[in-house]
Amino acid sequence: MRKQPEILLILLAAIAVLIITTQWNKHMKTMKVALIGNEILVQRSKELTDIRAASTQQLAKELQSSFEIAKATGFAAPQIFQPVRMMIIGVSAERAKKFNYPEAIPTTILINPTLEPLGSEIVMTWEGCYSIPKMMGLVPRYNHIRYTGTTPDGKFISREATGFHAFIVQHELDHLDGFLYPMRMKDLTKFGYVEEFKNRLPPQLVAEYIN
Ligand code: NI
Repeated sequence: MRKQPEILLILLAAIAVLIITTQWNKHMKTMKVALIGNEILVQRSKELTDIRAASTQQLAKELQSSFEIAKATGFAAPQIFQPVRMMIIGVSAERAKKFNYPEAIPTTILINPTLEPLGSEIVMTWEGCYSIPKMMGLVPRYNHIRYTGTTPDGKFISREATGFHAFIVQHELDHLDGFLYPMRMKDLTKFGYVEEFKNRLPPQLVAEYIN
């Protein structure tokens, strides 16, 4: 019996796995996120005038891939050093449950988004941010909002959102206006390392803030 073809197949499969993992690791290492202190995070980002432009389409792809690699609930273009008004949100139903939110938030890229509070109810909510690693804080947010924006394929979106969904939109849109969540906080005794808060909060919630 000739075994060479099988050996050749195994060898090819091993080479394929090696190439894929090397490329993936390279991708992970090259993903750089702007950190608190960087000027780009405290500036108002510019409107995107041409949604169909190749540069806009390319940025949408990069933003989505950063969002996926980070396993984030939201991400904003200035965090990947692009000071333009583009953000992404999205949470699976399973993950939303950990934040006591009953349903999935569809993965959506929004260009030139707007936000309007509906009512004056303010809720205190725990937030983290990839630009402020390993930290969390209790932030006041509107409980009920309407938000709009255009997707990269030119579709206009207008949604009402409450609770966790509304909080994520406010956090990401704040990035486009140069605000980081500690700048929204009223009580800085509720700002600190996730590690230091972990014994005082539900473990499934704390797990979501370790980044
Ligand atoms: Ni953030």
